[in-house]
Amino acid sequence: MEATIVKDEVKHYPVLLNEIISVITPQHGGTFIDCTFGQGGYTKKILDFPDTRVIALDRDKDTKKNADLISTNFEDRFLYKNLKFSQISNLKLKNENIKGIVFDLGYSYLQIKDKSKGLSFSSTGELDMKMGLNSFSAKDVINKLGEEDLTRIFRLFGEEIESKFIARNIIKERKKKIIDTPKLVEIIEKTKRKKNYKINNSTKVFQALRIFVNKEISELIYGLINATKVLKKDGVLAVVTFHSLEDKIVKYFFKSLSENKRVSRYLPENEDQNIIFELKEKKPILPSEKEINENPPSRSAKLRYVKKSVEIYDIKTDILNKFQSLLDVEKIGESL
Ligand SMILES: C[S@@+](CC[C@H](N)C(=O)[O-])C[C@H]1O[C@@H](n2cnc3c(N)ncnc32)[C@H](O)[C@@H]1O
Repeated sequence: MEATIVKDEVKHYPVLLNEIISVITPQHGGTFIDCTFGQGGYTKKILDFPDTRVIALDRDKDTKKNADLISTNFEDRFLYKNLKFSQISNLKLKNENIKGIVFDLGYSYLQIKDKSKGLSFSSTGELDMKMGLNSFSAKDVINKLGEEDLTRIFRLFGEEIESKFIARNIIKERKKKIIDTPKLVEIIEKTKRKKNYKINNSTKVFQALRIFVNKEISELIYGLINATKVLKKDGVLAVVTFHSLEDKIVKYFFKSLSENKRVSRYLPENEDQNIIFELKEKKPILPSEKEINENPPSRSAKLRYVKKSVEIYDIKTDILNKFQSLLDVEKIGESL
């Protein structure tokens, strides 16, 4: 899930960078929105082309210092907002000719390594996992929710098959003392009967918690809908995903709003959806072997993109119904 790797203080690797540039074509100028600014890898590359302007968003306020560095050189062509990308339509963009919108989902290497964020199972302190602009933390989830809710979160967001037993043991253990990150890892290790030798035993539960705490499913769905609303005709929407849940959502959204989307030519078009996109490539673009060698976490990255083919700003889509079961799991958080 890490898209950007820092091998030393200076060098970092924005994933699929050349591929992103070749699909959004900033060489022709225009305004671009970088929805996941991070360390600004994509933003900087776009700004290298003359006549471009970048509006960058990131929910993590720690990324502002990266933005400040860029602002000094590109004051009139760069704007940074500490905002969740689901709120992209709050920006006043009516007069902007938005030519491209990019999402590079997940977490940066710096976020994973920042112990205070507690995103990784190797963190030593309190459970947290908040990326920024959150309403509750992983500590609340693990120490307050009931067994059934925890089971659903681990199963649906982490595809963890031993969810029920892990949830049960969490409830048992937290009666003794508040559960922190090392304790959660210990509970998972002790509970799991099927040891996983390919990935860490805690990977799936930690993925589920990060998705839940950061409401990543609704963020992505509303991010896609609202980005499509602000994108101008002929503009490109490009998304890099890192796990199958994200990719399923992006794939469905793009396909269902594209021409030739009908499952069968004998069935009528779904009138609840309009045709908005030209789907340029059905298959995702994957990192080259060279990139994977240089930056191994890039191996799970998938880039999908579409071109907006119409002048429509009111989107009809059934994506909320399609992923209702996942959105229902997110609603568990309303009780925290
Ligand atoms: C993988 S990093 C992006 C790296 C960036 N492309 C670069 O080259 O430096 C993902 C970034 O997206 C941010 N992010 C994740 N979800 C977000 C959301 N819903 N709204 C805004 N920013 C988000 C994270 O805080 C993180 O900084």
